[in-house]
Order: sequence, then C-alpha cells, then structure tokens
Amino acid sequence: MRLRFSRRECLAGGVALAALGAEATAESSLHGVDNGATLIGARDRAGIELSGDWAYSVDPYRDGLNGFHGASAGLGHRRFDDIDVDAYTRAHPNALFEYDMARAARARLPSAWMGHAPELRRYVGLMWYQRTFTVEGPVRGRAFIHVEGANYRTVVYVNGARVGGHEGGFTPFACEATTHLRTGENQITLAVDSEPSPETIPPPVTDWENYGGVTRPLRVVLTPETFIDDAWARLTRDGALAFSMRLNGPRARGRRVRARIPALGVTVRGRTGEDGCWHAETPAPPELRRWSPQSPTLYQVVFETTDDALSFRVGFRTVETRGEDILLNGEPIFLRGICLHEEEIGEAPVRNMTPEAAERLLRIAKDDLHCNFVRLAHYPHTETTVRLADEIGLMVWSEIPVYWRIDWESAETLTTARRMLAENIQRDRNRAAIILWSVGNETPLSEARNSFMQTLVADARRLDDSRLITAALLTNRTEEHGRPLITIDDPLAQSLDVLGVNTYNGWYSDDALSALPSIAWRSRLGKPMVFSEFGADALAGFHDPDLMRKFSEEFQADYYRQTLAMSESIGFLRGLSPWILKDFRSPRRQHPIYQEGWNRKGLISQTGVRKQAFAVLSEHYRQRANG
Ligand code: GCU
Repeated sequence: MRLRFSRRECLAGGVALAALGAEATAESSLHGVDNGATLIGARDRAGIELSGDWAYSVDPYRDGLNGFHGASAGLGHRRFDDIDVDAYTRAHPNALFEYDMARAARARLPSAWMGHAPELRRYVGLMWYQRTFTVEGPVRGRAFIHVEGANYRTVVYVNGARVGGHEGGFTPFACEATTHLRTGENQITLAVDSEPSPETIPPPVTDWENYGGVTRPLRVVLTPETFIDDAWARLTRDGALAFSMRLNGPRARGRRVRARIPALGVTVRGRTGEDGCWHAETPAPPELRRWSPQSPTLYQVVFETTDDALSFRVGFRTVETRGEDILLNGEPIFLRGICLHEEEIGEAPVRNMTPEAAERLLRIAKDDLHCNFVRLAHYPHTETTVRLADEIGLMVWSEIPVYWRIDWESAETLTTARRMLAENIQRDRNRAAIILWSVGNETPLSEARNSFMQTLVADARRLDDSRLITAALLTNRTEEHGRPLITIDDPLAQSLDVLGVNTYNGWYSDDALSALPSIAWRSRLGKPMVFSEFGADALAGFHDPDLMRKFSEEFQADYYRQTLAMSESIGFLRGLSPWILKDFRSPRRQHPIYQEGWNRKGLISQTGVRKQAFAVLSEHYRQRANG
C-alpha cells in the first residue's frame, strides 16, 4: 500500500485543528480553542523557560472572568490585567481590588495544584497562575507560548491581552504572542479550569485522579517569521523513506525545502505547494537499521527551509497486520506489555513526570518485567515518556480519553475528541515507538457511539496510515457446552486493525480463579487481539494464603497465574498489557483498609514495593521472550 501523505492531508493536519475547534468565546468562559500552531518539535527550538516559580490564586466562582450578574469581570477582578495592584492602589486609594497576583502564594510548575498546598488536594475549578519573564531585545520572527499540557481548559494572557485558549488536559498547544511581547519584563497569566462536564473528554466519571493544573513544561518558543510548523519522517510499508513538511507564515508557499538524514547520506529536496506543504519519498538505503525494541535505532533527521531548520531523532520501522498476526518490520511479534497511568512513583504524586520519574517506570517495565510494550493509558502521556520509549525500545499504545460514558450526541464533544486525536497524532507521529492509536476505552454500545467512534477511526487513518488503529472493546459472555464463552461482537471491531479487550474474569466476576483457564474465547474477525487490560487489586503487604481473599497479594498472584494460563489457549491473542504497573490515585476506590483512594491493581505499590504478582508476570514474559 503506497503511503500517500497528500498536500490536502498535509495541510489538513494543521487546518484540521482550527476547523474542528469551537470559535473562541468571550472572556466569560474558558471555552473555545484557538490553537495558534502545531509547533512540532517545540522542545528542540530556542525559547525562554517558563517552568519554575509562579504565583497562583484559586477562583472557584470564576470571579476573574464574570461579574456577579454574569457580565465580563471588571477592574479589580480581572486577574490577567497588566497592572501592579499595590502601586495602583497607592496611586488610587479609592480603588477596590479583590485580588493581587503579585503578592499571592507561589508554587513551582509543572505540577498539579494539589501539590501546592494541602487545602488544594481536592480542589476542582478555576486557578489563576501568573509570572513575569524577560525578553532581551525586539522579537525578530515570531513568539509562541507553548504549553505541553494543562488540565483541563486553559486561556493564556500576555501583558493583559488574551493570546489563546485550549481544551484538553493531555496535548500541547501554542498561542502566538508575537505582537504582545515587549523588550524587558513581560507578564504571563494562565487561567486553568479543571472542572469536567458531561461534554468533556474525559467525562466527569473516570477511574483516575483529576490532577488539575499545569502538569507539563511550558516555554516561550521563538521561530522565524515563516517556520516549519509540522514535519514528519517515516518508513512506508513498501520500503520508502517519506518526508512531509508544512510551513507557517507569510512565505510558506513555493518555498525551497530539504530533508536530510546525515548518517545515511539521504537528502531530499523540493518546494512547498500553494498550501505551504511538501511531501516526498525516496527508496530507503540498504544500510538503514530499522527501529525495534531489541535495537531502538534512531537517526537525526534535519528539516530545512531557507529561513528555518528543525532536527530531531527518528526511528524507522513498519508495523502492520497479516491475518491474526501483528508484524513489526515484517516479522510476527507478541506484545509483552504493561499499562501505565501518568503518575510518578511516590506517596504523594502530582503528575509531574520528570525524565527521571519516567525513566524509573519504563526501566522497571523493560528491564525487570521483560516488557517490549507499554499501554500509556488513558490519555496522551507527556512527550518525555514517549520520547523515552523511542530511546530505550518499548512499543507504545497511545490513546485519547474517550472513556466510558461520553456524550455521543454532542457535536461539541465530537469536535473535542477529533481535535484531541489530531493533536495526539501530530505531536507523536515521529515516534517510532508508537505502533497503535486507540480511539476509546470500554465505551457502551449504541448507534450514536458507533458513529462517533467510526469518525475517530477515519480521522486517525487520514492523519497517519502508517500505524495500527485499535480500541478497548466490550465483549459478550455466554455459555457453550457448559463452559463460559466470550465473543467479540462489538460492531466497531470491523473498523479496527487490532482488537483491544479488557478482561477481568475472576476479579469483577465470581469465577473461581481455577476456572479461568477453561474460559473459551471466539472471534470471527480474523484479526489479532490484545488483552489491553486484566488485573486484580492487592494491598502490598496484605497476605492471606489460607482464605485467599480479594485484595491479598496471594489472590492477585494466583489471578495472574490463571489469567496467563487462559491467555495461552487463545489462538488469535497477540499481546498482553495487564492493568497496571503501579497503584494509582482514584477517588472511586475508598475501601478504608485496602484502598484509601488508590486503585490497587498495581504490580507495585505507589512507593514501588513489589507484590507477589510482579514475579509471576516477569517470569511469564521472560519465558515468552526466550520462547
Ligand atoms: C477498567 C478501566 C480502567 C480501570 C480498571 C479498573 O477496565 O479501563 O480505567 O481503572 O478497569 O477497574 O481498575
């Protein structure tokens, strides 16, 4: 299948975001998206660091946006005003201000706000952040405020002016601030609102902590006036190196461009079209070393125009299915995986996934569990983790939080999901580690849901037809010949390449663990299946070898033994990603002894203590790896 990244699709990669976004509305809410640019590889560009010390101020009734009768907020309430409140009130003693960001409490970003102060542990609502930064001289070219992730709705103000907004807690956004910056000291204010609604993605009820706030790094990113906004390099399934670029700026059309892989002596030249896009392919040189978990080879790829250059490391590999097999570089593979939430090891995580925190988790998966695969659940994880998976050699299932009870009838929700998927794919499609885009998790069947999900599948294929599409499906359990029979009959399965199935027989059912291996599985689809979840809770240190009660380590270990035994009898199973590596915060889990606000399905506790089941899975994967 020849990979065509047509000019239309190239541009659609960028315009899709704007076309899908709701128009920005007035100050009165944080709704609305006006994402100024894709800014691929923002981390690799010059800029001004904004992570670090910020002032913050809670605003649960959104006083900074709306007056008490709902009109826009006035002077004395607008936290984003470019004003020194103390100086102003000294000059105007009669002025009334009911905020003062300059003298508010301070915290370090990135971090969910629960880490700022104990009283914020359960705060859900609007938070204001503000800091200053210095611009040394006049901005030559353009300047963007680039936020890698803020949960959930954000509006950005620079020197009192709104420069952009974003909806979604897990994908980056860039707001252009070029005309608002001044030489010397500048003020930036963020309004971040974590409150979910029935229309948001994810919806209000999930099985993980909300973690409101700026949870990923942020910077001022500087670019030439016309710059490389999106760039993609990959190996096509028929063995060609494919390069695509989209320029952003007044001189995007008809520009000379070039893509190079110096280590391979590859240079491809061309000129952008009227849409500012360029695509070219060239045969892959025979000396190309393909990326794989065993050999995660990455090459420096350089994209250049006469005005701009961008360079980052890319792995080249192919992934496809053939019947019930998943092929990596043409060879059948079995995915030895584990699921992760984006939550660092420790007693009080704040979703600040530093490179060290990410490496610690991925190394446990790769080196101690013998994994070659991770499911980064249930939302796009930080670029830190995905880039690390590229470097150390872990294949990745990447997904957006279309999770459980989504408002399938809402046009706004569909627009949000489509934009989130496009942002996820655009940010990460240079990452060889990602082999699967997932469009949803355990979504209840209905006509509206099927239509919603089919739209997402079509979007994913349009934006990236070099990867496999999947979703975690629901299944149908019956009896046949006196044995439980589980059938995959979700209509969405027809549109997927790989069938994801979360199975919890023996935990969320009263099956005896000894009966699990006799459960039969059936699919008439001729496609590979991955157990995208299975797991049981255990409180580390709770032992109950005699009664084998649920929440004991012994129960969890035997659940793993029996479920793994069941898995070995399923002819179309091609991967496992048990739920989950580490215990994680979940407000739904409130057993006063065993849970205390944590989901305990981890193979390790929140502080990294290994449970008996860890060794069961590790040995199973070691044998499969050597099998
Ligand atoms: C579901 C869901 C997870 C959840 C898990 C559980 O399958 O996908 O998000 O945490 O089951 O019940 O522990």
